[in-house]
Amino acid sequence: MCVAAAIAALGAVPSASAAGRCGSHPWCDTSLSPERRAQLLVSALTPAERASLLAGDVATGVTGDPGGHTGAAYGVSRLDVPPLYLTDGPVGVRQGPSTAMPASMALAASFDRSLARLDGAVVGNEARLKGNDVVYAPTVNILRTPLWGRVFESLGEDPFLTARIGVEWIRGAQGQGVIANVKHFAANNQEGAKQADGSIAGNRLSVDARVGERTLREIYLPQFEAAVKEGHVGSVMCAYNRLNGAHACANRPLLDGVLRHDWGFRGFVLADYAASKTVGTGLAAGLDFEPWPFIDADGGENLTPANVNAALAAGRTTQAAVDHAVGNLMRTLFAYGYFDRAAYVDDDSRVDKAGHLAAARRIEEGGITLLKNHGRALPLDAKRLRSLAIIGSDGDGYRNGGGSSDVRPYSFVSVRQGITARAGSGVEVRYAPGTDLAKAEQTARGADAAVVVVSDTAAEGTDKPCLGLDCGATDSLSRDALIARVAKANPRTIVVLQTGGPVLTPWRDKVEGIVEAWYPGAAGGSAVARVLFGEVDPGGRLPATFPNRAADLPTAGDPRRYPGVNGTVTYSEGVLVGYRWYDARRIRPAYPFGFGLSYTRFEHGRLHLRSAARALGLRVSLTVRNSGRRTGVAVPQLYLGLPGAPGRLQPPRQLKGFEKLTLRPGHRSRVSFALDARALSYWDAARHGWRVAPGCYSVRVSSAGHGPAAAGTVAVGRARCGRAAVRLRG
Ligand code: BGC
Repeated sequence: MCVAAAIAALGAVPSASAAGRCGSHPWCDTSLSPERRAQLLVSALTPAERASLLAGDVATGVTGDPGGHTGAAYGVSRLDVPPLYLTDGPVGVRQGPSTAMPASMALAASFDRSLARLDGAVVGNEARLKGNDVVYAPTVNILRTPLWGRVFESLGEDPFLTARIGVEWIRGAQGQGVIANVKHFAANNQEGAKQADGSIAGNRLSVDARVGERTLREIYLPQFEAAVKEGHVGSVMCAYNRLNGAHACANRPLLDGVLRHDWGFRGFVLADYAASKTVGTGLAAGLDFEPWPFIDADGGENLTPANVNAALAAGRTTQAAVDHAVGNLMRTLFAYGYFDRAAYVDDDSRVDKAGHLAAARRIEEGGITLLKNHGRALPLDAKRLRSLAIIGSDGDGYRNGGGSSDVRPYSFVSVRQGITARAGSGVEVRYAPGTDLAKAEQTARGADAAVVVVSDTAAEGTDKPCLGLDCGATDSLSRDALIARVAKANPRTIVVLQTGGPVLTPWRDKVEGIVEAWYPGAAGGSAVARVLFGEVDPGGRLPATFPNRAADLPTAGDPRRYPGVNGTVTYSEGVLVGYRWYDARRIRPAYPFGFGLSYTRFEHGRLHLRSAARALGLRVSLTVRNSGRRTGVAVPQLYLGLPGAPGRLQPPRQLKGFEKLTLRPGHRSRVSFALDARALSYWDAARHGWRVAPGCYSVRVSSAGHGPAAAGTVAVGRARCGRAAVRLRG
């Protein structure tokens, strides 16, 4: 089934119709604009009712009833303003059991817009069928350090990839009739590092991220901008942390300035769980709503009616500010059809669980990333195998990340189950949990192949203490030692990583195969098995660099950079985030961004470059051919190197385009990319705007983020870049 059909199969979204619950008030006239309808409604509300609409009515959120919503606001029954229900999150609905989707990193690794839309549609569909109006997702914060506890629910280290996947996710979710809530705005890139005394250095609740203007605009904001301008996201969650001094939820330059003024955002801003600071500063900055009426440990003052009224009485806010916030919320709800449809009912018996599981499997297959395949250790051939050892208790259960994305699956297939089922009765499958190294070695010895399955431990709230597989784990496994032991006992050892993000792989030279499955979601075991046995080509490419050593991280070696000193974290690496850093510093990582092998080979034809017809821009095209013997997945990636200048460092390459193709052996496909002026621009902080600099631009397209690439040069303005260069007017 194609993705569009899979989305259509999720069922029709209730249309804005007579089934609406608006009543017969003047603001229920659907021929009026959402703005006008909101004005009419707000003017009919008493001041007390207006004050009551700025906060949720349930004091539990992430800590509350595990079967319940994460936030609810009861509306105003006198005027038929209906209740609003909200839920998490990016990898599935965290509200009782639901379909656990693969980690967002797996989705990003798919480099597949249609899978992103499918993922959003599945989560949006379940959010609706569990009675929600808003879903707190996607998470689009950039992976600045792989130590970040929430890497698994991010979309990796690149703003372009994050933006493309995030936009499609939002379209998928909002297509299901719920409002997406892109989070956490902005520069929420760490949870904080736990110290020996139990305190958290660089705690997300209060840390001040000091980020330069250019770095913000080029790295930390573009994916939010795309969510607003292209995804038409209905709501934005402001983050806990401070950004350049002010808390994100009380940050006027950020909310009122960048979000509303610069990008034209017309939805509503809601505060993360107790992230509102004071009523006055929040409302003045552009905060509209806080789902949880909670006072947090950090001294925040929430938007409860009592606090709002006290602030009004003390002159710390104005009625106009309150009305403005209520107006933003109501306008959005009108615009997204909430008043004009029936309430969504919390009844997940209507969820197509089998269909969603199939979608989860498909997305996971699209994101599984083959990092090493020495001597064609993979794919396994069930007909030729007599015995197979599966080692590692991580492969015998459901592994995911913790916190507000901790989804409890309706059902799941572990890697052990998936492989055992796929191998069939003709293969003797042995298993050892790996706690006892000698037993693991014994189990692996003599088997035709050994698959070691290992996970890391990651959760919201604190960062990982280090990048090894055992960092932060509470069990007694020694994963690196286990892999080394098994590799000694079995020459065909394959490691399946179920990690939320990059980890260290000190054993990589000792094993034949490495497969990154991420936190693979409910159907993970089936997907991993299908990739290992070659039923599908591994579709993933890395959305983040896997470093060789922790000391190589862009944030390593300077506590001011990470986790911060005295509550301030300084992003002094600037735009050199992720692969931009490794490239610029010529540091060889273990596995680079964009990397991922296929079971087949691809060849790239010559790059064709030409100037866009009307505006400043570039069209790039080339042919990709499957020159191997199996059907496979190619992910041509277009990287641009902008010209630097004294005082204006440019990363050697930046991702500006990608496509995903499935090609049969011998088949070819033409791929083209359109780059507009923005793609060629950098942020000129002196002029506070995007600028295309004259100079020589390098263009490269590769399929695995490394190795053979098709290359070309573009000259902008009067720059001399060699005879082969294509010239664009500057
Ligand atoms: C997280 C949000 C989440 C919220 C509700 C917060 O701790 O930062 O991402 O949506 O809890 O669970």
